[in-house]
Amino acid sequence: MKKEKLLHEGKAKKIYATADDDYCIVEYKDTATAFDGLKKEDLESKGILNNAITTIFFKLLEEEGIPTHFVEQLNERDMLVKRLEIIPVEVVVRNIAAGSLAKRLGLEEGVPLSKTVLELSLKNDELHDPMLNQYHVYALELANPQELARMEELALRINSFLVDYLMSRDIVLVDFKLEFGRYKDEIILGDEISPDTCRFWDAASSEKMDKDRFRRDMGEVMEAYQEVLKRLQQ
Ligand code: TMP
Ligand code: ASP
Repeated sequence: MKKEKLLHEGKAKKIYATADDDYCIVEYKDTATAFDGLKKEDLESKGILNNAITTIFFKLLEEEGIPTHFVEQLNERDMLVKRLEIIPVEVVVRNIAAGSLAKRLGLEEGVPLSKTVLELSLKNDELHDPMLNQYHVYALELANPQELARMEELALRINSFLVDYLMSRDIVLVDFKLEFGRYKDEIILGDEISPDTCRFWDAASSEKMDKDRFRRDMGEVMEAYQEVLKRLQQ
């Protein structure tokens, strides 16, 4: 299948229609953004690495019985996916305090959370992705209770699987963000799972192997993404 009309251009990906309405093509760009696009830079090959990393994760999740939009990797930058109606609710799963949670609750980064934390936020850059609870989700009719329950169940299952899998590759899964969508009356996982959308720390040194290196000007961003891919391919 090949790319037809450009349907949407996001900060890190472009979405193209295909001849079949049930499918679209995701093109992973090299653009890296942070702070709702305030900080922006091209990182050479980021798109290639995120496409490869997301492909590995989505294949593994499918094998685990988790429904995803992934169909196949078409080439270095393009992925064929099911065309979802995206639910504009970002689901963040956290195992260890970091980033905005550490800041908001005054916790030191790296403190393990005694129970997995699940957060919801509205996918809206202009409003800076404000946090939502279930009442907001229903009041704004973003998803119904059955859909939200399914999203949360899948998010926790994905977390359980990925924590163990990544630990076997000497990577700690600190936290990550998921997006879900509707496809033929089913809720399935969309978007990507990559160092852009997860916090990965080296198990031995706690060194950051994700987009925090870009957000915090730590350098060696693509080297870290490359190392994640290398460990997943081992
Ligand atoms: P946070 O600590 O900044 O709220 O981020 C939590 C997780 O969500 C982290 O793994 C990075 C990811 N994330 C995104 O994928 N997109 C975003 O826009 C933000 C703010 C975070
Ligand atoms: N995705 C957000 C942005 O592009 C921020 C982030 O990931 O930190 O601005």
